[in-house]
Amino acid sequence: MKKNIEVCFSPALIHLHDINDKIVVVVDIFRATSTMITALSNGVSSITPVADLETCRSMKAEGYLIAGERNGQPADGFLLGNSPLTYLDNAFAGQKIAMTTTNGTLAIEKSKSGAREILIGAFINLSATAQYLKTQNADILIHCAGWKGKFNLEDSLYAGALVSALAEDFSIACDGAIAMKSLYETNESDLQGFLSQASHAKRLQNHNIEADIDFCLQLDQYMIIGKLKGQELVAQPIKIE
Ligand code: MLT
Repeated sequence: MKKNIEVCFSPALIHLHDINDKIVVVVDIFRATSTMITALSNGVSSITPVADLETCRSMKAEGYLIAGERNGQPADGFLLGNSPLTYLDNAFAGQKIAMTTTNGTLAIEKSKSGAREILIGAFINLSATAQYLKTQNADILIHCAGWKGKFNLEDSLYAGALVSALAEDFSIACDGAIAMKSLYETNESDLQGFLSQASHAKRLQNHNIEADIDFCLQLDQYMIIGKLKGQELVAQPIKIE
């Protein structure tokens, strides 16, 4: 019997979904999960997602490199913000990172109760995530980080991309998944153009962070999945068949 795939558009709606024994794929395209996959693909040994600023700050004393972002900008007292470009060229290889962001780390936190497994998804490792999920014989919930409880375009479009990649292997179990699959398939040839109208893309453009947007919209740059083990996100290489 085919397993089910469904979409939750925001952490504010997660209570309406049954997480139990599902694989939850948390997505925050601009930029949290794109940054996490980039960091793990460039040798960072683990990332501990933390919902609140104070806890993240306190982890510096425990030897973590701390990274924090609020409203698209580095948070006060944090050297590292939330740009994927920061981690290229193995800049922080071997380091343990504690990371807090406006929406992405909260979505991870709200996915923990009952899930069989938590993955982080991004366009830059879309095929690796799809390949892995095909081998797991589990129902899937794609959890979009959104923006402060609201629907956002980029995370929902990613959900459509993953549903589209898995449509032959899974039953599409909600209208949201049907809608996003259709929206993605209509716009997949021009992701940049379509998502240039997204509210957070405009917010980042106002901060002159265009390069991050372009980077986060590349497909399949990395063949790893990001998986939560205990409290830490770690990389698992995936061989694409
Ligand atoms: C978030 O968590 O909301 C995003 O990652 C914000 C950002 O990086 O601009």
